[in-house]
Amino acid sequence: MRSSRPAFRRSFDAGAGRSTFAASNAAFFSTYKFLVLSVPATTITFQFSDGQPAQTHVAAAGESVLDVALNNGIQLQHNCGGVCGCSTCHIYVNAGGDDLPEISDKEEDFIDRAENPRINSRLACQCVLEKDMQVTVTIPPQHFLGH
Ligand code: FES
Repeated sequence: MRSSRPAFRRSFDAGAGRSTFAASNAAFFSTYKFLVLSVPATTITFQFSDGQPAQTHVAAAGESVLDVALNNGIQLQHNCGGVCGCSTCHIYVNAGGDDLPEISDKEEDFIDRAENPRINSRLACQCVLEKDMQVTVTIPPQHFLGH
């Protein structure tokens, strides 16, 4: 006898359990993964000057590069708590910098006090992300005590 209920539901009715449901889910995502993967996302790739392997993370609009780093267990000093009052969250922006908010005079002043500032230096707490951005940054060594 043929049931009008969906296959995954029938398998639950028959006591087939969780594994059949998981297989059903896997089949769904396998079929429709192009939809999931085609949703635009903001990503940040973190590279490390100490040789750690790079990490890429998805970020939400409104988060700063510092937020994304800390939310993902990446060590990045932030002595002032992310209010542009120190230079300890200093990073190098390697790609995607044109899409970041413009650098302020205050941020520039603090970057001047950072260790080894370069033309692509920014403060991670001031790099607030928007939708559909791809940013790559390098985290400088975190062994020094900044100010
Ligand atoms: S945490 Fe102090 S300026 Fe970013």
